[in-house]
Amino acid sequence: MTTLAPSHFEQIAEIAMGRWGLNLTDRKMQLVSNRLAKFLYKSRFNDVQEYLEHLEAEADEEDMLVFFDVLSTNVTSFFRERKHFDYLQREFYTPLAQGNLTTPGRRIRIWSAACSTGPEPYSLAIHAIDHLPDLDTWDFKILATDLSNSAIQDARRAVYPFKMVEDLDRGLLKRHFLRGRGKQAEMVRVAPHVRCLVTVGRLNLMDSWPIRGPFDVIFCRNVMIYFDKPTRQRLVVRLYDLLRGGGLLAIGSAETLSGLDSQFRTVEPSVYVK
Ligand SMILES: C[S@@+](CC[C@H](N)C(=O)[O-])C[C@H]1O[C@@H](n2cnc3c(N)ncnc32)[C@H](O)[C@@H]1O
Repeated sequence: MTTLAPSHFEQIAEIAMGRWGLNLTDRKMQLVSNRLAKFLYKSRFNDVQEYLEHLEAEADEEDMLVFFDVLSTNVTSFFRERKHFDYLQREFYTPLAQGNLTTPGRRIRIWSAACSTGPEPYSLAIHAIDHLPDLDTWDFKILATDLSNSAIQDARRAVYPFKMVEDLDRGLLKRHFLRGRGKQAEMVRVAPHVRCLVTVGRLNLMDSWPIRGPFDVIFCRNVMIYFDKPTRQRLVVRLYDLLRGGGLLAIGSAETLSGLDSQFRTVEPSVYVK
């Protein structure tokens, strides 16, 4: 097992924080070292020094995003952290369906910020179809963004190993996924009536956001965990500003807004309302 030189790790941590807000503490050194070794083995670079010199001297945005993929984690799954979907069903779709709640112009906007390869926004779309009757009479759209080029490519393709969906309810699977044939038999694709509700784009949460909002719901889950406190603080204020009054923010169950200065009201652990 090789380990990075501390000076190289420092240089990497500086780039990761400056560009993407990723907080690479010393505890991440071995992980970064392993991932980098794997990447370098397949690359044209002879060693870390050469790669870092390339990044500093001549890397363009695409090169930097390849480096981001080396460092970042995009683990995700369909209907991850089910309780957020249950909350949405109970407190949003059911009152909307019963006429006890309404949105201006019957417009519903949801943002999956840091959507990874797509299971999160597609789960949100499937969930809306299944819990808001006559969804097509609503102006309903989901925006799905991530920084990783490879993740958003996967999100746009919406093709996944069957293994990722095998534990979902059979009826749901049948209604909203297409099973591959022949060589693709072990793959599924999200069905067109679900895909058409989701727009996938690239966005760095650290940069300015060319997004108008307001959103009714923002899922920003399992990404803040990689940021330091000042970065989380800035992010939370910006998310708050993009929600409409009464709008909902879900963060990952392992994350919290406690210790941050925000006007959000906690309604459940990891669920907040403006
Ligand atoms: C662990 S995944 C979480 C995916 C999904 N939200 C979920 O909970 O299943 C974290 C994602 O955050 C993205 N990410 C990390 N830093 C980011 C940044 N600065 N801007 C946008 N996305 C970022 C990564 O590319 C990755 O896809």
